[in-house]
Amino acid sequence: MKIAKTIAEVRSVIAELRKERSSSASGDKVGFVPTMGYLHEGHASLLRRSRQESGISVLSIFVNPIQFGPNEDLDRYPRSEEADLKLAEREGVDVVFLPSVEEMYPEERKTTVTVTGISERLCGASRPGHFDGVATVVSKLFNIVKPDQAFFGAKDAQQVAVLQKMVNDLNMDIEIIPCPIIREEDGLALSSRNVYLSEEQRREALVLSRSLRAAALRIESDAAVTPGQVIAEVTTAIQQSPLAEIDYVDLLTFPNLEPLDEQGGFSKLRVSEGSVILALAVKFGSTRLIDNTIMKLKEVPLHV
Ligand code: PAJ
Repeated sequence: MKIAKTIAEVRSVIAELRKERSSSASGDKVGFVPTMGYLHEGHASLLRRSRQESGISVLSIFVNPIQFGPNEDLDRYPRSEEADLKLAEREGVDVVFLPSVEEMYPEERKTTVTVTGISERLCGASRPGHFDGVATVVSKLFNIVKPDQAFFGAKDAQQVAVLQKMVNDLNMDIEIIPCPIIREEDGLALSSRNVYLSEEQRREALVLSRSLRAAALRIESDAAVTPGQVIAEVTTAIQQSPLAEIDYVDLLTFPNLEPLDEQGGFSKLRVSEGSVILALAVKFGSTRLIDNTIMKLKEVPLHV
């Protein structure tokens, strides 16, 4: 496994590997998994997928300052380079790109990539500028690594939607591959930020996946339920936890993230077999957790 800290180094290592593997059976396609480190099984699942689908597997670890707001956790974002490199090695990564902030942002930046609309809802509403920071750094990483495929977790579903739109709009020749959310056995979605939770917060945080699951069942089985009812039920369930402070609970179309109108909100989508996302962000103390479920709607019989 090669470790590159500069842009020049990572470009030359990848070019070299592409040359070496151009005639190998596994191929010379580059699969890319961008991360901010403190790797867990969610990240590992993306690396495994990349290993399976691409001949060359590249991981980046970079805590991107421009996607954090002024009052967010940039300074205390967890880091563990040694453990990360071990996990990467175990997952058969070929190249790890580990740039410094100075390497990525050497001078005052005058270019920002903004995906309008999709970036402004859900997390974009409570974290202004966050998705500009994500789209900008991912564009830079794509230009540096030049992957054929890039793997992202559905845990950050809005991030997937924003990046897919960016790639389409800017004609980037990269396939975005969304991968399923990896959860603890009890349902909590894995996140680097889970280490911040106290034992009690960790226990109460289960309300998120539990209420999403209940809502998904309701939407799947009850043709008469309205978007407003689903949102209200999830909100009420979460409010039962005294430690939870809701940032948002919302139900939108996926991937365009448009609101569902209250009358017949689901029914039109059921006929067209469209997808919806039920997404939430909830704070436990100062730790903000996100989770979601994406459902492809099928027609269900109306209860009478
Ligand atoms: P980070 O939070 O480190 O996540 C890196 C990738 O791992 C993302 O695609 C994320 O969706 C995925 N991931 C995290 N938890 C997951 C889980 N429980 N199951 C499946 N996938 C999971 O997302 C970022 O970093 C940054 O915004 C980045 C794209 C690297 C840009 O800075």
